[in-house]
Amino acid sequence: MILITSTTFLGCSSSSKSATNTKETIGIIGAMNEELEVLLKDMKDTKEVKKNDLTFYEGNLWGKPVVAVVSGVGKVNAASCAQILVSEFKVNSLINIGVAGGVSKDIYPGDIVIGDTYVQHDVDTSVFGDKVGQIPRMDVYDFKADEKLLNLAIEATKDHTDIKSHVGRIVSGDQFIASHDKVAEIEKNFNASAVEMESASIAQVAYLNNIPFVIIRSISDNANNGATMDYKEFIPIGVKNSTAILKSMFEKM
Ligand code: ADE
Repeated sequence: MILITSTTFLGCSSSSKSATNTKETIGIIGAMNEELEVLLKDMKDTKEVKKNDLTFYEGNLWGKPVVAVVSGVGKVNAASCAQILVSEFKVNSLINIGVAGGVSKDIYPGDIVIGDTYVQHDVDTSVFGDKVGQIPRMDVYDFKADEKLLNLAIEATKDHTDIKSHVGRIVSGDQFIASHDKVAEIEKNFNASAVEMESASIAQVAYLNNIPFVIIRSISDNANNGATMDYKEFIPIGVKNSTAILKSMFEKM
């Protein structure tokens, strides 16, 4: 995990298509209404399209064409939503914002974590000798953020020196983590910075479609025994921080 300083710049492997021409449409996913409501207020020329029980907001956000959508919580909702954005709305890249539980010890509520790699922590075929998190018979273990989008997000954090920002692995699973033992296990198995319930499935869809993506999460809790209380209290701060980073990122595209 890397704490962002004024000189941080990352090289990492990228998908072969690279983000982002200013005319290209960006798909933006939030799992819950709260995670997108701040951003939706800034959208212009918005058209609402309903599909699969979801509302897709097509329009202009901070000068860029976007389709924004609340996917619902969990990996299947997020993956299905991401695939609709790619197949039906023809988005050229995917960005997910929202909140996450902090896993590394030096990460606290309000901090930002930009994911450089993504793993599904609840995938487990270790009885066949696989590493926990490895999706059987896939050629990758962790999905990697697009290099250009990742660096844009890192640059964006430098406009917000009041927010402590980190770059590291985000892991996802269909569980809200609220126990010291479980979060310690996740840290040990995955060397993760943050845990939540969607991003690694969005990353998998992006990988399968060869679409650039990055995920920006703000910490709402430390995934330990007090997590449910902290989560409720810190969601508004988390949403404010992740939206602010996204806005700065758009300004740099
Ligand atoms: N999203 C925010 N906090 C979380 C946690 N502790 N576990 C899973 N998803 C989360």
